[in-house]
This record gives sequence, C-alpha cells and structure tokens, in this order.
Amino acid sequence: MGKDFALGDFRLGEGVDSWNTITFLYKSALKEVQTKVEILNDEFQQVHQYNPIEYIKARLKAPESIVKKLRRRGYESSIDNMINYVNDMAGIRIVCSFTSDIYKLAEMIGRQNDLTVISVKDYIKHPKDSGYKSYHMLVTVPIFLSDRTIDTKVEIQIRTMAMDFWASLEHKIYYKFEGNAPEYISRDLRECSGIVSMLDAKMLQLNEAIVEAGAAQEEDKSAV
Ligand code: GTP
Ligand code: MG
Repeated sequence: MGKDFALGDFRLGEGVDSWNTITFLYKSALKEVQTKVEILNDEFQQVHQYNPIEYIKARLKAPESIVKKLRRRGYESSIDNMINYVNDMAGIRIVCSFTSDIYKLAEMIGRQNDLTVISVKDYIKHPKDSGYKSYHMLVTVPIFLSDRTIDTKVEIQIRTMAMDFWASLEHKIYYKFEGNAPEYISRDLRECSGIVSMLDAKMLQLNEAIVEAGAAQEEDKSAV
C-alpha cells in the first residue's frame, strides 16, 4: 500500500479522466457510508426490534450545481476547487421518525472507527433563520484502491420526516423565487417550521406512551 492520500492531495491533470476518477471516488464513498448506515439500522432492529430509519437517499452533486456553487463563492470551476470547496459532492440524507433517533444515529455514526467526523452542524438545536432544521455531519471515509487509500468527504444530513417535508417544500419555493420569496411566504414557512417542531415533539411523546402501554399490557399478560 502506498502513502495515504486525502482527495485534496490527489493532483490530477484537469480533464475528463480526472473527472471520471473523482466521480468514481465519491460514488464509492456514498456506497460505503450508505452500507454502514444500513448495517447500523439492521443491528438496531436486531437489538431493539425497531428501525430508527424510515429511508435513506444518496446522491452525487450534479455538475451544474457544482459550477453554480463555486461561482457563488467566487471560485473558478476546476477539479481542485471542487475537491477543496464543495463539501457535499457526495450527500446522504437519512430520514427518521423521531428526533431522538437522529441523535442515536449521529452518535453511532461518530463511533465508526474508520469514519472521521470533520464537522457537525446541529440545525435542530439551532435552526437557520429560514426555519430549516436538520442535523449535518461532514465525514471522510477511506476508499481503498489497489495502490493507495484516499479519504473522501461525504455530507450526511439526518432529519425527521416532518423536517424533510418542510425542507423539500421550502427548497421548491426557494428555487421558484430564486431566493427572493415574498416576505409573507418566508414568514409562513418560519411558522410552519414551528409547527414541525411541535409535531415532532408530540409524535415522540405519543410513541413513548404507546411503548409504555405496550409494556404494561405484556406485564398484565404474564401476570395472568
Ligand atoms: P451550502 O448551503 O450547501 O452552500 O453549504 P454550507 O457549507 O453553508 O452548509 P449548510 O450546512 O448550511 O447547508 C448544506 C445543505 O443543507 C444544503 O445544500 C441544503 O441541502 C441544506 N440546507 C441548508 N440550509 C437550508 C435551508 O434553509 N433550506 C433548505 N431546504 N435546505 C437547506
Ligand atoms: Mg448554506
């Protein structure tokens, strides 16, 4: 095995070849992280008879979104800039039923020995001004090639179904108005974000009540 590389050290001639190599690395990183998360979910099912994850979406950033993001930040479109400044080339979105599941999963992901957590942004405890809520982790995963290992970045977003519903709608509106939605729409979205938090809290309480009632029923049965 050769020296360990981070993608940023991976000097390549600019061109189609390097684009294909980079895409291959990010695709492999997506696969690795998705599998890890699926295994954690399966293990949870084994131990607790319960799945914390409703669904997972994995995506590679589209070339036009990469160019747009670099331009917005004042960088020219180059493979180096993409590797260094676009952290969500590979993105995994994990959607859970309950807020408590998000923190359980984040902890389990953080404990994976071969993942390195680069940064965490908790937009659930600290929502954005827009009302956006989600838990973000930027991690690197080693991709083992035949002659070297390359640490590759993956952005993980973890949120509840209600947060996901809000974010999808807000995203559509944002695009429709190119970021300049009328004030009453932004206000209503912030209000909806509050309703999302209430719904999430209520559903969590309800689930706890159901679990407790179920346990009490089991006890009654075994006492008979
Ligand atoms: P970008 O926002 O992607 O330029 O990167 P950043 O480094 O500022 O990271 P941040 O954590 O703010 O956002 C990363 C991703 O979270 C975005 O690409 C979106 O998928 C999502 N996101 C962040 N803010 C919002 C928001 O206000 N609304 C919606 N719908 N999604 C958001
Ligand atoms: Mg941002």
